[in-house]
Amino acid sequence: MSELGPVDWPPAPIKTERLVLREPEARDRTALIELFASPEVGTYIGGARSREELESAVPEEPKRRPGLFVVDLDGAMIGTVMLDSRDAESSVKVRPDAGEAELGYMFLPESWGHGYAAEACAAALEWFATALPGQRVVLCTQTANTPSMRLAQKLGFTELERFHQYNADQWLGVWSPTNP
Ligand SMILES: CC(C)(COP(=O)(O)OP(=O)(O)OC[C@H]1O[C@@H](n2cnc3c(N)ncnc32)[C@H](O)[C@@H]1OP(=O)(O)O)[C@@H](O)C(=O)NCCC(=O)NCCS
Repeated sequence: MSELGPVDWPPAPIKTERLVLREPEARDRTALIELFASPEVGTYIGGARSREELESAVPEEPKRRPGLFVVDLDGAMIGTVMLDSRDAESSVKVRPDAGEAELGYMFLPESWGHGYAAEACAAALEWFATALPGQRVVLCTQTANTPSMRLAQKLGFTELERFHQYNADQWLGVWSPTNP
């Protein structure tokens, strides 16, 4: 994955009904480590990373990049939403072109089941549609990842194709600003 194309970054924090989407800050470090170390979060995305490795790898000031939002509920991070650019070396060799934006999301398990991911992703897509008008967004998820499949459909992604990779059935969807 590489950075998004030319966007004004960072935008002012994006406020939704219950959440704020903002850049990562030093105070998010513990929650970021939780996220990457969680076996539940890692189930369909390659597994959890070791806490020890994360403690040395995650800097005190978490890295920032265009398209990376921390999702904040009442002042604490509950997840991340990412819009990244699919690079030419992507191991996923499917229809979407290199350079196309791809949506990703990871939320702490205690925040699941409240509609927070849907609320945050919808706001991130709305930001994207203004920042890079007319561009579509793709999303890849394992078909076995039922909550993620449901979320993709709720957000308005439609199926482009299914394929088998990493020993799992994968679903590739597309969202376009004219048909959200
Ligand atoms: C994928 C993931 C973000 C989905 O989280 P989620 O909380 O299920 O997603 P949503 O925000 O859409 O919430 C939907 C649930 O909230 C419930 N909900 C409760 N209150 C709600 C409200 N006010 N508004 C909307 N939904 C609400 C819905 O009924 C639904 O419940 P259900 O799953 O029992 O049907 C989460 O499972 C996750 O982080 N997984 C690990 C990372 C991962 O696999 N990412 C995918 C990478 S491709």
